[in-house]
Amino acid sequence: MRSAKDFFRPLAVGAPAPLREVPLRPSRMIHFFDPGNEKMAAKVPALAARVDVLLGNLEDAVPADRKEAARAGLVSVARQADLGGTQLWTRINSLDSPWALDDLVTLVTEVGDRLDVVMVPKVEGPQDIHYVDRLLAQLEARAGLDRPLLVHAILETAAGVANVEEIAGASPRMQGISLGPADLAASRRMKTTRVGGGHPGYLVREDPQGDAPRVTHQQDLWHYTIARMVDACAAHGILPYYGPFGDIQDLTACEDQFRNAFLLGCVGAWTLHPVQIDVAKRVFSPAPADVAWARRVIDAMGDGTGAVMIDGKMQDDATYKQCRVVAELADALAARDPELAASYAAAEKAGL
Ligand code: GLV
Ligand code: MG
Repeated sequence: MRSAKDFFRPLAVGAPAPLREVPLRPSRMIHFFDPGNEKMAAKVPALAARVDVLLGNLEDAVPADRKEAARAGLVSVARQADLGGTQLWTRINSLDSPWALDDLVTLVTEVGDRLDVVMVPKVEGPQDIHYVDRLLAQLEARAGLDRPLLVHAILETAAGVANVEEIAGASPRMQGISLGPADLAASRRMKTTRVGGGHPGYLVREDPQGDAPRVTHQQDLWHYTIARMVDACAAHGILPYYGPFGDIQDLTACEDQFRNAFLLGCVGAWTLHPVQIDVAKRVFSPAPADVAWARRVIDAMGDGTGAVMIDGKMQDDATYKQCRVVAELADALAARDPELAASYAAAEKAGL
């Protein structure tokens, strides 16, 4: 049993008080870089100007003999690089690895004031979040931090999916959850060999009609998991994300997968290569025409009750609320992205 009153008390003497709301900062793309790779680390300031979130990756894709170099590289990037208003996140190694403890101790005590969010991979249940929660509080107290670090879980184990609601609500530190399709496929014993996206073998076929060829339609392998993750996140006031799309050359399929996630409620996705940045920016920024329409509905609906017809379409309290989601997201993104702000203003002026 834990009293509701205790939920917002710091978990260590001297640690900052937990936040009551997740800050709604733009995070359309979480751009991964290897901080142990000096060439890549040198590009960080230029990349920071193009993305909402930069993430120093310490986990998978960093070889075992480069783990310590990656950690040290991230400390130096965090200390030296000017990232402007771009958030700096990290993905630590998994909690069952020999590196996770040192990742947290080093990063929080040395550059905790420069980090916004700690992404925890392979989360299986609320017990993993509780472990990180208490440890972060102890380290924040030791480092004298005045704001709490937030935690982001990757949904990439079958147990994690089974426990996703409890994970989302495990701590006031929870900022969001990302789908990790590659590890999740392995954990579920799916028979795929890719990082995210669809599969041509996962399809439905039209009924037979004489000898006519039967049309097939590819289905989305990730629909169920994304929808569950979105519900768990929305129920707990935290943010859902699509994770990685590994076929870097197939920007069209990447855009489709990102857009499905956006329409279902996700706010962003990971970008593994700079060519994916513009895809994520396009998909996770509501389209100017949709924003102009949302504002028209909001204006016409006055206090948000009752019903009106606009261009033959019925609007009521529920469409008003949907339109507010779109307009509020557009406002938050436009505040950070002047180009986007100009395209919203132009669409409104053109009466789109
Ligand atoms: C991400 O970490 C994934 O496993 O897809
Ligand atoms: Mg993974």
